Amino acid sequence: MNEVMKHILTRRSIRSFTKEPIPRDILEKLVEAALCAPSGKGQQTWKFTVITNQEMITRLTEAIGHELQRGGYDMYCPAAIFMPSNLRDGIWSKEDNACALENVFLAAHSYGIGSVWINQMQNICDTPGIRAILDELNVPADHVVFGMAALGYPDPDSAPRPIKRIGTVEYIE
Ligand SMILES: Cc1cc2nc3c(=O)[nH]c(=O)nc-3n(C[C@H](O)[C@H](O)[C@H](O)COP(=O)(O)O)c2cc1C
Repeated sequence: MNEVMKHILTRRSIRSFTKEPIPRDILEKLVEAALCAPSGKGQQTWKFTVITNQEMITRLTEAIGHELQRGGYDMYCPAAIFMPSNLRDGIWSKEDNACALENVFLAAHSYGIGSVWINQMQNICDTPGIRAILDELNVPADHVVFGMAALGYPDPDSAPRPIKRIGTVEYIE
């Protein structure tokens, strides 16, 4: 089968990771994949922040848990976080970043790295606790994080959640 199709058909959301770090050169490939995503009018107003510092990941996770009042929230304890941000008022910010994230999910899968979309940030970016961390990460003040990728090598003892692929399709010929 065509390699691209193979990876599209076999990618799954992974929610349990080993502690093994992801090598920097692979992270750079994932960034390259993100940078090659389509964007509205090719404006590429996004910024990509890659976090491997475990202390920072823990602080961010705890801050999210605090804002959402979700005790024990752990963001699946990833080896790395890929955090795209984009203009709060950009017309296509959310779409552009979603395209970048999907490229990252597929590229990660092609390197044997698991990923899952983390959706918790988009409505809390401007709370003081989260914005203080985003400032530390040099995320621009006019940017929002619509979604992130939690990344890591899949835990071999944990299977992805079962899913049945559905969707209405119609060919008009
Ligand atoms: C917009 C969006 C938000 C999502 N948010 C989360 C999330 O916060 N946490 C999570 O575990 N999975 C999240 N997911 C992953 C979906 O649950 C997952 O893609 C879906 O169940 C299909 O499974 P698959 O990715 O293995 O094909 C999100 C996916 C999308 C597209």
